[in-house]
Amino acid sequence: MESEVSLYDRIGGAETISSLLDSFYAKVLADSELAHYFKNSPMDKLLKMQKEFFSAATGGPLTYSGKPLRDVHRHMAISKREFARFTEHLIETLKEIGVEEQASYEIISHVNLYADEITNDVY
Ligand code: HEM
Repeated sequence: MESEVSLYDRIGGAETISSLLDSFYAKVLADSELAHYFKNSPMDKLLKMQKEFFSAATGGPLTYSGKPLRDVHRHMAISKREFARFTEHLIETLKEIGVEEQASYEIISHVNLYADEITNDVY
């Protein structure tokens, strides 16, 4: 039955998540409003954690082993506007790599659930 197929499998599993994250972070790092956050970050570890996170978030086989998102991002004081830009890059990447619209909506609404944990500003 359709409802038993995970979002992970519907979008193409590990391979899709891998190319998604590569293109997505290329966009984020090319965005001068966002890139400075990542200046001193270990990108290999970040991408590994993001792969786990997206796999877990879409019902895939990996478990997220990183720190709670609130703890990771709290000191960065990320604004709602920056969060929205980050999400826009994600939407664009999903479109570019051919993830179907319904699956993209599901991914974006999942990611938006973390907005309050990741942002830390008063507008
Ligand atoms: C839905 C949105 C987001 C999700 C799901 C997310 C998820 C993650 C994850 C899983 C990690 C790795 C945690 C670990 O190492 O244990 C991480 C790290 C990081 N995130 Fe995010 N993040 C989001 C939004 C953002 C935004 C908007 C920014 C900045 C504009 C940002 C900047 C960073 C940085 C700089 C690190 C690396 C921290 C370090 O140096 O180790 N994140 N994020």
